[in-house]
Amino acid sequence: MTTGFIGTGTITAAIIRGLAAAGWTDPIVVSPRNAELSAALAAEHGFVEVARDNQEVVDRSTLVFIAVRPQVFDEAMAPLSFGNAAAVASLVPTISLDRLREVTGPGPALSRAVPLPFVEQLTGPTPIYPPGAACVPLFEKLGRAIVVEQEAQMDVLLAASGTMGSFFLLQAAIVDWMAAQGLDPTLARLYAGELVSGLALSAQIRPNQSFETLMDEFSTRGGLNEQLRKSLEQAGLRQHVGEGLTALLHRVQQG
Ligand SMILES: NC(=O)c1ccc[n+]([C@@H]2O[C@H](COP(=O)([O-])OP(=O)(O)OC[C@H]3O[C@@H](n4cnc5c(N)ncnc54)[C@H](OP(=O)(O)O)[C@@H]3O)[C@@H](O)[C@H]2O)c1
Repeated sequence: MTTGFIGTGTITAAIIRGLAAAGWTDPIVVSPRNAELSAALAAEHGFVEVARDNQEVVDRSTLVFIAVRPQVFDEAMAPLSFGNAAAVASLVPTISLDRLREVTGPGPALSRAVPLPFVEQLTGPTPIYPPGAACVPLFEKLGRAIVVEQEAQMDVLLAASGTMGSFFLLQAAIVDWMAAQGLDPTLARLYAGELVSGLALSAQIRPNQSFETLMDEFSTRGGLNEQLRKSLEQAGLRQHVGEGLTALLHRVQQG
């Protein structure tokens, strides 16, 4: 079974390097653009081959990933014939399955997936629609496949992925504050990194525990954690995050 990629950029490289780390050996064929990166991936991994053009990727692959930027989607897809492709998975977040169907025709089974660059480290969530999509087993090797039953739910997950920068903002605020108190910045960063990864793990291993319970458990009554949490809540943190995410959702829905 051959897997193909049209658009050999950041996310294609992360997926292929992640698959290699997971022990993947099945053939992968990539489109020749970006020339430097596609050649590098073929040199790194014996199972990767660079196709002559995008049509060769489609013709040789059982599962074809579309991984071009939204601006070049129409131009890249227009000349292609998907007559014989079994499955096509789009990684282009703004392209609906209806739009994808217009370019592929009735033949292939279609899906959408939105991986994050840290699939290269075999971690992180990949939203996928619809259930049973051909790309699910591949993304299960690269972290956690989050399969949704309605296409609109992809937009909600996509909006939520817009919190990544803010996550680092919070960490930066903690580290910068510690450094401003005179702590060695390397030590401050090490402390904050271990703190947030331990907290993330604590929530992950107890999926049935509400965040309210976790907040209580990690905030001694009258203690330091309760004090800061209450002041952030009073300052409207929760509401601000909710409003910001709603704005992102509207943006995602508008395409
Ligand atoms: N990066 C992420 O974390 C991420 C995560 C999930 C989804 N995505 C989505 O995945 C898509 C690709 O993202 P990316 O970050 O990998 O972008 P990227 O690094 O810019 O890669 C896109 C590649 O497409 C190539 N390309 C342009 N026109 C082409 C054509 N007609 N035929 C074949 N290839 C063509 C470009 O080659 P040239 O350099 O030669 O122009 C470029 O190497 C986007 O829609 C993005 O929104 C990205």
